[in-house]
Amino acid sequence: MAITVILGAQWGDEGKGKITDLLAAEADIVARFGGGDNAGHTVTVGSERFALHLIPSGILYRRVICLLGGGMVVNPERLLAEMDGLAARGVDVSPARLKLSGQAHLIMPYHIALDGAAEAARGGAALGTTKRGIGPAYTDKAARSGIRVEEMLHAPEVLAQRIRQQAEAKNTLLEKLYGQPALEIEGIVEQGLAHARRLAPHIVNVSEEIESGLRSRKRILAEGAQGTLLDLDFGSYPYVTSSNPTIGGVLLGLGVGSQHIERVVGVVKAYQTRVGAGPMPTELTGELGDRLRGTGSQPWDEFGTTTGRPRRCGWLDAVSLRYAVRVNGLTEMAITKLDVLSRFDTLQVCVAYDLDGQTIQSFPTDLAVFARCQPVYETLAGWSTDITGVRTFQDLPQPARHYIARLEELLGIPACCISVGPGREETIRR
Ligand code: GDP
Ligand code: IMO
Ligand code: MG
Repeated sequence: MAITVILGAQWGDEGKGKITDLLAAEADIVARFGGGDNAGHTVTVGSERFALHLIPSGILYRRVICLLGGGMVVNPERLLAEMDGLAARGVDVSPARLKLSGQAHLIMPYHIALDGAAEAARGGAALGTTKRGIGPAYTDKAARSGIRVEEMLHAPEVLAQRIRQQAEAKNTLLEKLYGQPALEIEGIVEQGLAHARRLAPHIVNVSEEIESGLRSRKRILAEGAQGTLLDLDFGSYPYVTSSNPTIGGVLLGLGVGSQHIERVVGVVKAYQTRVGAGPMPTELTGELGDRLRGTGSQPWDEFGTTTGRPRRCGWLDAVSLRYAVRVNGLTEMAITKLDVLSRFDTLQVCVAYDLDGQTIQSFPTDLAVFARCQPVYETLAGWSTDITGVRTFQDLPQPARHYIARLEELLGIPACCISVGPGREETIRR
């Protein structure tokens, strides 16, 4: 039993990158299992900040092997750019330590064009996707027409033909369905072949890599992207991503059995945020929301790592967090950004929803019902002292200790780490 899973418990951007980097100090392998470069995971080491989109957040430890699992959708151009960016900063991204599953699907330029065209066609009902081609690439996977990473190992003329055929089909969609200009196909083919040549040495069987790691008693971290409420099945559908960032996605995305999973850590931001459209019962639209978001003057202020969009902010929603505990079987939580709450005299936590005058305790799966839910708040005392220098639970101000204890009580799981700043050392371990 050697796998620790790290999952987002909210709508993404909980601080999974920070927590993964922290726990990677005690790991040998870090594997992403799903999603693509819609993710933006920030790791802060001293004065250096790294924004990772596809490469696992364990990459900064020389000893750690990083795997991109088969449940991912990978834009080869973006992956190579990310590798080059890290290499320029002295990080080793050689095939010995950065490995890519052959079963992952490729995101091609036509997926990105289709993502943009579909969003434009939705008009006022747009989902607010990251426009990285994620949905169209997973659509092709389900439609059994997608190109897998392992096809980059096939003969160039075979790969070229696959890309050409797919690009032609997508041009029909772009032109006929969306009234958009067609893409220039031969350029896409040439680029695809060049990417294949560079990435070929990195392509492996990730399930076998994990199996051999488990056999030699390696400690493995599975790094989630997105969050439970963005899950294709369990999230606030249709305002979700096209993959499964919940626990099931780990098994599918890595090719591993459940008996190897020892801990399931839910990363919980001390308040709620969301980028993109869809209901959010605890959203604060006025001055309080602005105070949570910050002005953008600090790197951790609530603006998207991938798109730069301002994130919608609100009070912590314990109803949806209890749901995240249930659907993932969370064994513990890592609470992040507790320091941000130092800006408030009193804090609110949503402990139930009011649905048309009735109090409900459970997260509704029907979006039409969820959209009508109003938060039922419990008020807790705030603290106004700076806690970024605190390193032990006992040294936190009493109201902060109470906030954590109340959350543990509401969710029924312990907090294993409490993060009080973006840096590695700005953490309380318990
Ligand atoms: P992820 O997608 O879950 O990895 O989260 P992001 O990296 O997109 O967003 C989290 C942001 O908060 C990043 O800018 C982090 O550097 C920052 N961060 C993480 N933990 C803390 C914390 O405890 N306090 C503060 N102030 N910032 C944090
Ligand atoms: P990390 O891993 C926050 C959101 C988008 C949009 C919806 C669908 O950094 O937590 P997509 O491009 O996936 O089709 O967009 O999902 N979304 C995220 N929000 N953090 C993320 O990743 C996200 N990845 C996707 O904003 O609402
Ligand atoms: Mg993020």
